[in-house]
Amino acid sequence: MHSQRQIKIAPSLLAADFAHLADEVKKVEKAGCEMLHIDVMDGHFVPNLTVGPAVIRSIRKVTTLPLDVHLMIEAPEKYLKDFAAAGANHLTVHAEACEGHLGRVIEGIRSQGVGCGVSLKPASPLRQLEGFLDQIDMVLLMTVNPGFGGQVFMPEVLPKIEELRKRFSRDIEVDGGINKETAKDALRAGANVLVAGSAIFGKPDARQAIEDLRGYA
Ligand code: DX5
Ligand code: ZN
Repeated sequence: MHSQRQIKIAPSLLAADFAHLADEVKKVEKAGCEMLHIDVMDGHFVPNLTVGPAVIRSIRKVTTLPLDVHLMIEAPEKYLKDFAAAGANHLTVHAEACEGHLGRVIEGIRSQGVGCGVSLKPASPLRQLEGFLDQIDMVLLMTVNPGFGGQVFMPEVLPKIEELRKRFSRDIEVDGGINKETAKDALRAGANVLVAGSAIFGKPDARQAIEDLRGYA
């Protein structure tokens, strides 16, 4: 029953034109999204490199949208303070990068006074979140292997979304290969926050692209 839950669209800046970031941010803000998804990659947890706190600090100055920062990095606990100080509103870490100390990392995020998210790669079981669900605001279920935009949605993650929705009433975010069609499947399975890079920045009309994801005709 996803209709009772607020659907939030989070454009992923990874697919934006980095030479014109402020314009790209304003474009999606005007187009009616709920937050802005920023992908941080360190070349270790994932094979790619992107941006750090300095870029987030600059983005913070040009938008009032909540900044949803997805940390695809090893040892995220070292950087929570920097990202919060740069203006992140939500910090999401990967459970796989916090093995054995996820509880402490969650506390670390909470102590920064920002929203707390935990993410799982497609192959990681929900079991990794056991005992933590009541302490987090959002679970990000990756629907591609993290690292790059423009990949194909993995439908095998859908049962994991359904399973999580039975036990978790807060935000379930999906990220990777989300487009008009796959958004429908993810929402039906119980997700309510949709991250989309190419399906928004790759389209000529951002407003239309966002409405398409929400499932409006
Ligand atoms: C991938 C990132 C995504 C990426 C999604 O590791 O976490 O946020 O930008 O891109 P699309 O929507 O193009 O699959
Ligand atoms: Zn992401």
